[in-house]
Parts: sequence; C-alpha cells; structure tokens
Amino acid sequence: MLPIQDADLFADVSIADLSRTPIRPLGLVSDYVVERLPYELARSQEHKTPAALADEIDRILASVKLADVDIPLARVDLRMIQSAVIKSGGAPKENLLRLCEEISRLTRGPNIITYGDVVLNNPGTDPRTTTPDKIGYSEASFDRLHFRAEQYCEAITERLEQVIELLEARDVDKGCENLAAAIPYISDIIRIMKFFDRMSRDHFKVFRNNMSAHSGLKGASGYFSPGIALIDLYFAGAHLPDKQLDTIETDLSLGYYEKRDQLRKAMQRARGKNHAVGLADQINDKDLYRTAANFAAAVLNYRRAHHRTVALKLPEALTDSLSGTIGTTKPAELLQERREPYETLCAYLESKAS
Ligand code: HEM
Repeated sequence: MLPIQDADLFADVSIADLSRTPIRPLGLVSDYVVERLPYELARSQEHKTPAALADEIDRILASVKLADVDIPLARVDLRMIQSAVIKSGGAPKENLLRLCEEISRLTRGPNIITYGDVVLNNPGTDPRTTTPDKIGYSEASFDRLHFRAEQYCEAITERLEQVIELLEARDVDKGCENLAAAIPYISDIIRIMKFFDRMSRDHFKVFRNNMSAHSGLKGASGYFSPGIALIDLYFAGAHLPDKQLDTIETDLSLGYYEKRDQLRKAMQRARGKNHAVGLADQINDKDLYRTAANFAAAVLNYRRAHHRTVALKLPEALTDSLSGTIGTTKPAELLQERREPYETLCAYLESKAS
C-alpha cells in the first residue's frame, strides 16, 4: 500500500501494510520507534511490565548522540518514546531523561510531545504512531488530516498577509479580492472536519490517551495549531479577548507552537491593531466590511464544524466529564470561549457593512 492518500483515510487496514520511505535520523532507535514501540506499548501490561519496558528503552538509547542529526524528527522519535514510557505507567530512566532535556533545550520547547511533533514534523511517508495495526492506521490518518488542515491554513495565512499589505497601501479593491479568495480554503478545512466522521471512536480513545497532558505540561492538541492561531491573529487580532492573546503569547514563549517567528509577527499586528479587521476599521469601507463579514462567518462555521466533530468523536469533552488533551478540565467552556468572539465579530462586521 502507498503512503496514506486522502481517499484511504481511516480505511480498515493495518499500518503494517503501509509502504514506507524510511526517514530514520536516530538509526536503530528510529527503527525501534516505527517498528516495535507501538507493539510494545499495546502489550506492555501483559507482556512486559512498564518498568521492564523503561529499562529496555534506556539500553537502546545509551549510544544516542544528538549531533549532526535531523533535530525536529529526532525530537518526534524521542517524544514518542517518552510518551510510551509515561503512558504505560513507567518512569523515564537516565538516558531518556537526559535526551528529552537536551532536545527540549535544543528546540526551546516543552518537555512533552507537541502538536508540532505529531502533525507537522511527523513524516507522511514514514509516519510514527503510538499504536499498531488498524488502530495505528487510524492514528496516522488522524495526524495526516490535521496536516492537511494546516496546509489549507497556510494558504489562508499567505493571503491574509497579502491583504494586510494591500490595505496598508490603501488598495482596498485588491485587498477585498484577496480576502474573498481565502474563503474557499476555510470551506476546505470544514470539509476536512467531516472526514473525521469515518474515524472509529474506539480507536481514537486509545491513541488520544498517548498524546494527552502529563507532568503539569499541556498535551499535543489541535489547540496548538499554528495555522488557526495565525488566522485568528492576522484577521480578528485586537477583536479577540485579551485572555486569548495573552494565552497564545505565553504558550508561544514556552515553545508549544511551531511557526514561532510568524506567530510573533502576527501577535505584534494584533496588539498594534494592524491586522485585517483593524485596518478595515481605519479604512471604513462598506465593501471591505462586507468581505470581512463573509470571512468571519466562514471561520465561525469552521468552529461550529469542529464542535460538531468533537460532539461525534469525543462527546464526553462537551459535558466536561473528560479532560481535554491539553489538560484543561473544561474543554467545552474553552471551545465556547473561542467561538463567541467570532459571533460578536460577525454581528459587528455585518452592522458596518449595511
Ligand atoms: C476528531 C477530531 C478532533 C477532536 C475530537 C478535537 C477535539 C478538541 C478538543 C477536546 C479541544 C479542547 C482543547 C483540548 O484538546 O484540550 C480542541 C481544541 C482545538 N482544536 Fe480540535 N479536535 C479535532 C480536530 C481538530 C482539527 C482538525 C483542528 C484544526 C487544525 C483542530 C483545532 C483545534 C483548535 C484551534 C482548538 C482550540 C480551540 C479553538 O481555537 O477553537 N482540532 N479540539
């Protein structure tokens, strides 16, 4: 079977049947992560105690050096191992502790697996998963779909950057044109949310747990999607609540996000009111407000589609009877807090457009 294609996402097949192009920065350790770790983790309780698994892993890691290797991918491998040890109930031992601290220092990131590890730096042609067989295939599909959403986010942020430049130069017609051209990509993300309907809830329960918060740190959630954060900052900017801007800024400084330089620039624009809606407020043109209202409605629709997917695949999160992957005890409240500013913004932009 070829690397996962959109049409095959969540098919009833095993990840063992995936044809791979190996990318293994840590040699035998990367081979272990891809070929054995998911099986060890699945069988760890009956087959090997968590302590025995942690010992075995530490022996394998003894010779690892982080010089002259692909650091982002080496980090994915080490984080997969760290999650496996911790989520199986074991405690990381000396070599794993040392390497995890070193990779956190080198990448200026938190000492936990991140969304960037799982989605952005996890190679589509040689995916790392924490589960084997058919569940492993669902896990790889889940990661791949998030990656596809990030690609559309990238197309949107590129256009928003152009919109901002054009509006700064007071080229309102071209600004409107570019803003309108970004809207179909938001529909593509909404289409992606529907793809998750195919995912088995039983499978999701298993691999989601391996990505969740531990040691007081936040887990690998879409919450840390750099693409969605960039859209929010470049478009809505200062119209977002201070609490949201402050949280993104803090998490950015702690290294939870990829695309940090771009996010810092977008944050500056948001704080300085030089983002798309901020510039529309300076220009005060009805056509521009109309296009911005359409864009805001599309983002709100994306958040509604996301909410629908959560209701289908993780309904416990919406009654707050289950912690979110980031560790929040109130995921439903958080989702509502992110939706509400767009409801307000839609009403505001509509009133300005009419
Ligand atoms: C089955 C699929 C999904 C489920 C079950 C799901 C679930 C959740 C949950 C429970 C939260 C609350 C925070 C937490 O994780 O602790 C959350 C937040 C979030 N998720 Fe997802 N998610 C899914 C797919 C996606 C996708 C594809 C994206 C887009 C890249 C995404 C982006 C976000 C964002 C940006 C937040 C922060 C809240 C917001 O800004 O609206 N999620 N998700």
